[in-house]
Amino acid sequence: MTSITGPVTGATTVHVALAARAYDVLIGHGLLPRAAELLGERLGLRRVAIVTDGNVAAHHLSTLAQPFEADGRLRDTIILEPGEATKNFSQLAHVCERLLAAGVERGDVVVALGGGVIGDLTGFAAAILRRGVRFVQIPTSLLAQVDSSVGGKTGINSPQGKNLIGAFHQASLVIADTGVLTTLPARELRAGYAEVAKYGLLGDAAFFAWLEVHAGEMMALQPAAIAKAVSRSIEMKARIVERDETEIGERMLLNLGHTFGHALEAFTGYSSRLLHGEGVAIGMCLAFRLSEELGLCVPQTAARVAAHLKAVGLPTRIADIAGAPPDSATLLRLMGQDKKVADGRLTFILARAIGDTFVTRDVTAARVQAFLASDLAQS
Ligand code: GLY
Repeated sequence: MTSITGPVTGATTVHVALAARAYDVLIGHGLLPRAAELLGERLGLRRVAIVTDGNVAAHHLSTLAQPFEADGRLRDTIILEPGEATKNFSQLAHVCERLLAAGVERGDVVVALGGGVIGDLTGFAAAILRRGVRFVQIPTSLLAQVDSSVGGKTGINSPQGKNLIGAFHQASLVIADTGVLTTLPARELRAGYAEVAKYGLLGDAAFFAWLEVHAGEMMALQPAAIAKAVSRSIEMKARIVERDETEIGERMLLNLGHTFGHALEAFTGYSSRLLHGEGVAIGMCLAFRLSEELGLCVPQTAARVAAHLKAVGLPTRIADIAGAPPDSATLLRLMGQDKKVADGRLTFILARAIGDTFVTRDVTAARVQAFLASDLAQS
């Protein structure tokens, strides 16, 4: 079957130009009911297996699965428990064994329908199943649409930390239906928004300024605002991934706020006490405050960042997390578990201004601990 790679009516297409691993991200309202047709156009009439979670299945599984079922191309549907705790070895084994039992072959396609947990786990299963089968991401959370579904990072968590076991395995197609965001709980939508703001903060001051004006429309899911915000975020991510697929340099900028954020997530036990995007929001505020303290950016930059994130309802300080706060030594120890530790030195993304960030390993542990201690004391 001839595959179509041109524009899709009613969708914005962002191409991720990675030579043999190139693929398109299709962004638009109402794409989910067309997913089987779009997948067929792009990848041929493949047999598929769908992996999703119970919450997403209740809203969207039948819309996706029905056309595949109708023409006998659905090998299996695997429904996992929702939540970060699912991203573990035993669920990975379960998915791989179910896919093999369903007869999934190398020519078939595994479809991840869900948020970041489902995308990461399913992508990793696809990376190792029969030494690699193709997979398609259909992200249903804002966070997954603007970040985790694009760029090929797949994996699971371990007791030592988040995403420490995994592989780079690019999807063959990403279908981001912005219409499905209406079924997201408001808190998850806000958490995903942190990753949208991240793109402005890390490399596009004009986009951040646009968000300051239009975030309200976006959070109300007005189609024009959500389409622009999701498309611009994905476009920025695609360009960075093209230049640095395996994160040896520029891609680290996408981790703005994540060194702090991951430590806070570890402290709260990856629980609903702090969602990933909320940790990123606090982490980005800390990164800008640290940058300001180090004299890298002009006063009031961090206040502007925090004011915007607060206006959309995100936490901006460690003290905003419910319950007893961590101490600075605990946070520093948890940061040491981060993937971004190299030769024992922490990697930070710091800022010269909004939209102008850089990677550094020059901030000493003692300096970071003193900064965290004073930040916690001011809360
Ligand atoms: N979420 C950061 C990255 O994909 O590189």
